[in-house]
Amino acid sequence: MALTVSMKMLILLVSTISLAWSSHGVEGETSISEEEDAELERQLKIINKSAIKVIKTHYGDIYDCVDINKQPAFDHPLLKNHKIQMRPTSFPKGLFDKASSSSVEETSKVMPSEIGLKDRCPPGSVPIRRTRKEDLIRVKQNPSEFQPLIDSAPGHNFVKNYISTVPYHGAGAWIGVYNPAVSKGQFSNAVMWIENGDENNLNSIQVGWTVNHDLHGDNRTRLFTYWTVDGYQKTGCFDTRCPGFVQLSPDMALGLAFDNTSVIDGPQYHTKVVIYQDLSTGNWWLSFTEDNVHIGYWPKSLFTDLATSASYIKWGAEVYTPSGQASPPMGSGRFPSEGANKACLFNGLKVIYHSELTDPNPFRLTRRKIDNPDCYDADIVKKSKGLDYYFFFGGPGGPNCGN
Ligand SMILES: *[C@@H]1O[C@H](CO)[C@@H](O)[C@H](O)[C@H]1NC(C)=O
Ligand SMILES: *[C@@H]1O[C@H](CO)[C@@H](O)[C@H](O)[C@H]1NC(C)=O
Ligand SMILES: *[C@@H]1O[C@H](CO)[C@@H](O)[C@H](O)[C@H]1NC(C)=O
Repeated sequence: MALTVSMKMLILLVSTISLAWSSHGVEGETSISEEEDAELERQLKIINKSAIKVIKTHYGDIYDCVDINKQPAFDHPLLKNHKIQMRPTSFPKGLFDKASSSSVEETSKVMPSEIGLKDRCPPGSVPIRRTRKEDLIRVKQNPSEFQPLIDSAPGHNFVKNYISTVPYHGAGAWIGVYNPAVSKGQFSNAVMWIENGDENNLNSIQVGWTVNHDLHGDNRTRLFTYWTVDGYQKTGCFDTRCPGFVQLSPDMALGLAFDNTSVIDGPQYHTKVVIYQDLSTGNWWLSFTEDNVHIGYWPKSLFTDLATSASYIKWGAEVYTPSGQASPPMGSGRFPSEGANKACLFNGLKVIYHSELTDPNPFRLTRRKIDNPDCYDADIVKKSKGLDYYFFFGGPGGPNCGN
């Protein structure tokens, strides 16, 4: 009986969503078949692990506290016999340094944007965002468009500052946190990329913030991570949506929303992101707070070219719109020329050559790619009085930005 009711509710939900979608003119199927529904149910059974405790955020997300040894990562065929690494054997010097104060000229005081679960998972369990059927449906409707894309993809625009040439074992930065207005089917991201390999062999780990309705079902600015080992073809995904990332922190989870976002000429908030390779295990660790927290890692065995080191670090942003819509704002929606307190920025750019977060070699920081400067731009990297490397980026987008 209860089963019938919940099935009906799901069907109702599915048709409501389809209606909403078609009325917004988003391309895609208007309903899902029984077969597709059964397939979604099958996927949910695999994705959705049994919870020891359930934590709800104040904006309505559900995090299941899952047995640390039964988390989604271990469904990955390459991680069947993976021995979990509970903490890094070493971490780079400077990992937990606070932001230097007043490092960028004329920026008013910048505060860290709060993020994290207000409650923690019991020992031996870790928080994994629950995937609901409507999440799978949104993604299914737009299978390739809600995710990071190759630079030449239609509807996609980007700005990037690069460093390359020598091997890297990680990188970090402070990213200004804004909440650009993004419609359904679009996204606007600020991203740090750690990469090796080309085209079909591209290994990429990404961290930053995103506003992505198809991914999250809302317009909040959220922490996101992404990985692929074949240039976005068959492998990889966001956060813990597919097996790969090993979660360890009991209260810092992937996919959380930032509590505070910057306002133009008002309060400015930022977040720190660091990805570093554990030199003895080769695993790639994630850290995104000033506090002494190791969130988790992508095991070395997931990767090919990135197993040894990265050959590129990129800092920048990307936006996407389906055809027929105006392109969304990037960053704060203002061009970098507007500068402090108006444009979004990356600050305190660091790389890891060996075992320390250190300033990037300025002579190697000269590469910059902007694919549509009339709509979006990024400064070249500069050194501030506080001796940090930084750049402003962003732009308004609009109806004539498609490519
Ligand atoms: C997911 O799992 C939780 C508990 O582990 C359960 O309460 C919930 O009903 C499941 N949801 C779906 C959609 O399968
Ligand atoms: C986000 O969505 C809420 C509720 O739907 C709406 O009130 C708000 O204006 C939206 N914000 C942006 C920046 O689009
Ligand atoms: C950040 O947002 C939270 C939740 O809305 C709020 O309680 C807190 O005071 C804000 N922090 C700052 C520094 O504004």
